[in-house]
Amino acid sequence: MRILMVGDVVGSGGRRTVKKILPRLRHELGIDFVVLQGENLAGGFGLTLETVYEMIEAGADVITTGNHVWDKKDAVRKLDDPTFPVLRPLNYPAANPGRGASADRAAAVVNLIGRVWVGEFDSPFSAIDDLLAGGWAKDRPILVDMHAEASSEKIAMGWHLDGRVAALVGTHTHVATADCRILPGGTAYVTDLGMVGGTESVIGMHVEEALDRFLTGVGRRFRPVESGPMRFNSVLIEIDDSTRRAVSIERVDRELEL
Ligand SMILES: [Fe+2]
Ligand SMILES: [Fe+2]
Repeated sequence: MRILMVGDVVGSGGRRTVKKILPRLRHELGIDFVVLQGENLAGGFGLTLETVYEMIEAGADVITTGNHVWDKKDAVRKLDDPTFPVLRPLNYPAANPGRGASADRAAAVVNLIGRVWVGEFDSPFSAIDDLLAGGWAKDRPILVDMHAEASSEKIAMGWHLDGRVAALVGTHTHVATADCRILPGGTAYVTDLGMVGGTESVIGMHVEEALDRFLTGVGRRFRPVESGPMRFNSVLIEIDDSTRRAVSIERVDRELEL
């Protein structure tokens, strides 16, 4: 099975880039399954039903999220619908709507969130241990998106899950890392997928407002970059169907002008 995992898609510029690149990539690379990070789909903050369906139409199978999942109410209201292919991090306290894992498609997907410099959540390490303890989704590859700021926490999770899942990829920093590898137990790993968003930006947002926050210490409204040079960051993972472990992982990064 050939799987593409796409980094945080930022705003309408990110969505337009996905629509231009993903359908062609699916065909060119013979991709069977696409996981896309969608926490920034709608104006850079959260998701709406319309933006989710746009990404499904472009070729996404399951959409993972992170700390911004709660920003727009219409998608939040839909999170409890088992047919809605959007996950929220598994280790948010259980009182929240939604689910953190899905196993009703060709590949199982788990969404975790890190705690270092992100927030007060349940432990992602024990949350996934509890999920996997009962032999969950044993008959299909398991793909994990660990949405976290600290490289060390994502690397530690890679070792924690090595040999137990097909892939552990990081998201949230919006900066693609060059450390794709197969861990000794057969788990594909990369610290961060990166993003789909404006190249001339601060993690997808206009430079002026982002820089201003650092210069003045006063928060201004961030706006996603919606035109000009755009980058598309993802990784391609090939999985052995019989062992359900990864045989290769490589970056698939593209650029275009909007
Ligand atoms: Fe993000
Ligand atoms: Fe995030």
